[in-house]
Amino acid sequence: MPNKDGVVRQIKEVIDIADLIGDYLPLKKTGKNYRTNCPFHKDDTPSFFVSPELSLFHCFGCGKSGDIITFVMEYEKVPFVEALRMLADKAGIEIGGFSDENKILYSIHDFATDFYHKYLLKTPKVLEYLKKRGITKETIEEFKLGFAPAGSEFLKEAKKKFKIDDLIKSGLAKEKGGDLLDRFFLRLLFPLFSSGGQVIGFGGRQLSKRGPKYLNSPDTPIHKKGKNLYSIWHTKQEIRAKGSVILVEGYFDFISLYQSGIKNSVAALGTALTNNQAELLSRYADDVIIFFDADAAGRAATLRSLGMLLNLGVNVRIGNTGSRKDPDEIILKEGKEEFLNLIANSKDFVDHTLDQIKEEFDISSPLDLSKAVERVLTILNQINDPVKKEIFKGIISKKLLIKEGLLNVESQRKSSTRIDKTPDISYRDRCEMSLLYAFIQEPERMNDVFSIVLEEDISNAYLRKVFRLLKSGEKIELEDIIDSLSEKQMEYIMKESRKPEVSAVSSAIELKKYLLDSLIVQKRRKLQKVEADGEEGEEILVEIEKLVEQREQMKETVQWT
Ligand code: CTP
Ligand code: MN
Repeated sequence: MPNKDGVVRQIKEVIDIADLIGDYLPLKKTGKNYRTNCPFHKDDTPSFFVSPELSLFHCFGCGKSGDIITFVMEYEKVPFVEALRMLADKAGIEIGGFSDENKILYSIHDFATDFYHKYLLKTPKVLEYLKKRGITKETIEEFKLGFAPAGSEFLKEAKKKFKIDDLIKSGLAKEKGGDLLDRFFLRLLFPLFSSGGQVIGFGGRQLSKRGPKYLNSPDTPIHKKGKNLYSIWHTKQEIRAKGSVILVEGYFDFISLYQSGIKNSVAALGTALTNNQAELLSRYADDVIIFFDADAAGRAATLRSLGMLLNLGVNVRIGNTGSRKDPDEIILKEGKEEFLNLIANSKDFVDHTLDQIKEEFDISSPLDLSKAVERVLTILNQINDPVKKEIFKGIISKKLLIKEGLLNVESQRKSSTRIDKTPDISYRDRCEMSLLYAFIQEPERMNDVFSIVLEEDISNAYLRKVFRLLKSGEKIELEDIIDSLSEKQMEYIMKESRKPEVSAVSSAIELKKYLLDSLIVQKRRKLQKVEADGEEGEEILVEIEKLVEQREQMKETVQWT
């Protein structure tokens, strides 16, 4: 097996923890995270959280924490190496030395890629077609473009090497009325690369008049539609380096851009960007420029993808703001510079929405205005982040001269018990976060906590609010607490595997001890200063004694818990 750490890193890069766990358990999205009932203990309330951002899971009930490898080890009850093998399979990463069910599917795809590619190179008509579309020999080589001939040429060869069952499983052959048929014929083929660089399927463009314009591989154990982005394998380094990515619709769009030297792009394949794809994308880039086709389908897809991406915290701009068809055509007819111009002039999503509304509706007519409001609401409803939502609402209502109240329909639904966002975690916060953990885990011990810690002992405004609400007997949903945590706080909580001896009361005591210690140090300094000035520090001394006594009591309490 090659370098283990390298494999682990590669696997973690490719597999999204929410995707993985989502294959085992029904995950419900809550803000940036997902939750479900914990599979590791008896759990009536969903206390198991998955954070794609941190690539970690954590159960607030039993305290289990970990990454994708821990999850598979625990869930499948397999040792580390076996978990790694299973994940490598999923990720399409070769780790060698293991017998491997999916390995055969990868081999079939490798064989097919090679077969179809060689066939293309000896088929002048298809080479001519590609030439006309401006595709160079190097591009054909780099993306291993292929051609599926008519008849059963591929299967004839493939059957010599592979079992029929495996060929069917690969999706490249299908059974019909007792016959075995090639899935692809008379099509230009784009191999689909996994983010680990393995071919896992094909997209086929019709070259005859038969069948749909594009026909793609079906879902197989190694390929799931909507989970991959076309050729992220070829561009992820460039995307990471630039921090921005141009999201296009189709194979040809992607390839044209790439060939012209614009290499920070991926294709969504088809019009609907899925949540999985959006998340994959957000792991590589902070800025996404959507450049879909200018037709109705492309516009609708832009609208749908917007909210998804915004919720993942990426900045979204819209590139195709005019009536030009698609990136492929722009590159071919107007050139790379013009395309880059359009990118430079891309609009942010607020301006884009406004422009579209002004273009489509006459907002001085009540009927059109209500349609415009509906459009705005569609976008608003997709945005979870309350800050972004407010900003968007504010600007739009001002510019369209509509009352902001009109845009409040949906946003009021859940906000009443929501707690405000907190600032990032500080050293003192760590004690307080521990306490928050206790709030979540042992609400029934809260009265003990209240006898130790006072509201004013807590520096964190958010936590103070939780404390106050709990003290007044209000029930707080775990979901609301989690949603309100900053990334750092969440990371701290998720990484802190719960030790059994850390109880609500001991967390409270930890915080109180820390506070008393700092207070005592502070008072002693004050006393020194007063005495150095030649004054009596009697009062301060009494205060210090009181604090020390309180601190001593804390020690005793610890023994009680
Ligand atoms: N697509 C698909 N199935 C279809 C139609 C489209 O999977 N029946 C996907 C393909 O990935 C395609 C993309 O949607 O590349 C965009 O579709 P379209 O704009 O119709 O095709 P183009 O990529 O522009 O192809 P061409 O330039 O050859 O017309
Ligand atoms: Mn197109």
